Amino acid sequence: MARGNGYDVKDVRLAAAGRDRIEWAKKDMPVLRSIGDRFAKEKPLKGIRIAACLHVTTETAGLMQVLSAGGATVSLCASNPLSTQDAAAASLVRHDGIRVFAVKGENRKTYYGHILRALAIAPHVTMDDGADLVTVIHTGKREYLDNVIGGTEETTTGVIRLRAMADKGVLRYPIVAVNEARTKHFFDNRYGTGQSTIDGILRATNRLLAGSCFVIAGYGWCGRGLAMRARGMGARVLVTEVDPLPALEALMDGFEVVPMTEAAKVGDFFCTLTGNLHVLRREHFEKMKDGAIVCNSGHFNVEIDIPALARLSKSVRTIRPFVEEYRMRDGRALHVLAEGRLINLAAAEGHPSNVMDMSFANQALSVEYLVRQRKKLEDKVYDVPEPIDREIARLKLMATGVRIDRLTPEQKKYLASWEMGT
Ligand code: ADE
Repeated sequence: MARGNGYDVKDVRLAAAGRDRIEWAKKDMPVLRSIGDRFAKEKPLKGIRIAACLHVTTETAGLMQVLSAGGATVSLCASNPLSTQDAAAASLVRHDGIRVFAVKGENRKTYYGHILRALAIAPHVTMDDGADLVTVIHTGKREYLDNVIGGTEETTTGVIRLRAMADKGVLRYPIVAVNEARTKHFFDNRYGTGQSTIDGILRATNRLLAGSCFVIAGYGWCGRGLAMRARGMGARVLVTEVDPLPALEALMDGFEVVPMTEAAKVGDFFCTLTGNLHVLRREHFEKMKDGAIVCNSGHFNVEIDIPALARLSKSVRTIRPFVEEYRMRDGRALHVLAEGRLINLAAAEGHPSNVMDMSFANQALSVEYLVRQRKKLEDKVYDVPEPIDREIARLKLMATGVRIDRLTPEQKKYLASWEMGT
């Protein structure tokens, strides 16, 4: 472990390898790069201290560099104990002078210790993926509230937690919900999760998806993306839902929709993406086939009731990295991937840079917005302003070399009128 006053990473000697990987990621992040170029000239974040709690990946490293280029002082900790890419963390420490507190596989105590060390810079802005910084500040470290001007939130689960805080009147600073930008969830949640979840399952298991029965719990943006990609790999896809609307949508998208008690009997692969607790539990484990593979791609490791599975089992062993075999008392074996934590970040590398480009462009521009609007915003959860969302889409299309049409004056007039019918 490499520890210093301003960092705690696995090994700073991984820095050179990390720098190459970060460079590789940034090649596919043109929007973030263009924001970085502007930030370097204009320094819109001069004097701003940012504490970020994100998955410490090569893409996150790119974002940290952009914030630093904009004049901010940044500290970074992990938003999940298993998602850190140690080489990227080392490179940020050695080459960018950023305070990083993150080691892949850290235990719960270290995880929360790292959050406290990241917060020790007394941030003006918090940047969360799951709302842990906001929660720690509001529950135990209220002295930091004096400095904070606002925060950003990356993910659906975090936005739900923060809206609950705002509804209860306990949120003490404004938050920009980056997840709600269309240039975030249309692409990151759908295409990012779709591809990276399959990637994680395949890296962990090397099993064939073609011809298998793949059960997806939850048909939000992430579930939709995964269903689409699992079908593309030749699996028969079953969807489970609790909400009639997405259930209907899954049906009309061509998937079988069934209750989990039915799906449990036939699934070869199960993946939870609901944001809720104990979606797979004892009653389901009791019905699953021998050899079934169970994983989660939702933010927290609460969707699979692993303690209940352990109680049904007589032994547990790691049969491959990220694959735990639970040998049940009745002789069946069920396999849990990555301890029920985000499979796409634990066993693979998270979403590809191309979608994180837009997510992190939203992060960078939302921080700039918070700084510009400071004192004008209330203690509420705000959407990313529409002009920012549109501008990111425009820049992405431009970088991809795709041109689109413009409305003619006649069309503009038609859209603005109500008198014209057929
Ligand atoms: N969340 C999902 N994929 C990610 C990535 N590659 N980097 C940071 N956060 C992520």
